[in-house]
Amino acid sequence: MKINGTAFRTIWLAKDGIGVEIIDQTRLPHEFVTITLRSMADAALAIKDMWVRGAPLIGATAAYGMALAAREDATDAGLKRAYQLLHATRPTAINLKWALDEMLAVLLPLPETARVAAAYGRAAAICDEDSAQNAALGEHGAALIKAQHQAKQRTINVLTHCNAGWLATVDWGTALAPVYKAFDAGIPLHVWVDETRPRNQGASLTARELNWHGVPHTVIADNTGGHLMQHGMVDLCIVGTDRTTRNGDVCNKIGTYLKALAAKDNNVPFYVGLPSPTIDWTVADGVKEIPIEERSAREQTHIFGKDADGKVTEVQVTPDGSPAVNYGFDVTPARLVTGLITERGVCAASYKGLRGLFPERG
Ligand code: MRU
Repeated sequence: MKINGTAFRTIWLAKDGIGVEIIDQTRLPHEFVTITLRSMADAALAIKDMWVRGAPLIGATAAYGMALAAREDATDAGLKRAYQLLHATRPTAINLKWALDEMLAVLLPLPETARVAAAYGRAAAICDEDSAQNAALGEHGAALIKAQHQAKQRTINVLTHCNAGWLATVDWGTALAPVYKAFDAGIPLHVWVDETRPRNQGASLTARELNWHGVPHTVIADNTGGHLMQHGMVDLCIVGTDRTTRNGDVCNKIGTYLKALAAKDNNVPFYVGLPSPTIDWTVADGVKEIPIEERSAREQTHIFGKDADGKVTEVQVTPDGSPAVNYGFDVTPARLVTGLITERGVCAASYKGLRGLFPERG
């Protein structure tokens, strides 16, 4: 992503070759601030407190967290302890466990003296792989947008939920990679951006990056999508996912399920963009088996915004004493999903569909 002419990834190695730079996403859209992670504990806090978020970026940060951990204690016990601490930060995105497993698989067979260099090497490779996978899935998804444009010969309206864009990954995004690829190829398109309460990742992050890239978009209240679909104002939905089961159930930011129901009722195609590390081959039934993160009720009762003087402040939107609950994710059953857009192509949201693209998964 280019920001004011400078190309950025969302995570990169600091100039000293030790620290890891990230963008503090809690400060967006109003301020662009970077932070250097210098310890495994920093990396864990960055994930837990959502300075970084989005399934692939959580995985990439955890991978670098293991590299920082190896500097602190490269023994088997030290790395396993770091694994547990990083794994406990957020429960839903499977990319976190995937990246931690990758790191341990590389590091444990090595002598302790070789582990730090190998850890930085594998973390960097995980970042490069994420970028390449998202670029590839972006091409496959862009073909779907192009087909809609060919058929309709007008601007194509895409609806997305939460932030599954550049900021949620190392580069490109998942749901938004097809949008960027189609837009860069000259396809006229417009994105409906669900604000995505309670943390507003749509309003603050998706709008921010579409704005940086110059993609036409409009922020809508979370409950607007159904109305737009009833009036032919959405051509397709594309969302991301934190974990997709081997049978094609899609876990994503809370509210995704309701959009999929509305899409089904209005014959609007509902696609999900995902790089393969987001597939949890060990899980079949998403509703029953995927742990759903519950975050602080304060994210529901309070909201951040910029006041007239340009100062970012937090205000309370509920009466004192009203309880609130904050489920982070929900599961959209495979039957509501038109297709999964992966780096190897688009497939049905089913075991057969996923196995067809990833036969090595048995
Ligand atoms: O709670 P968040 O902001 O980490 O949730 C992010 C999402 O739900 C994304 O849609 C998902 O991680 C896919 S990211 C490419």
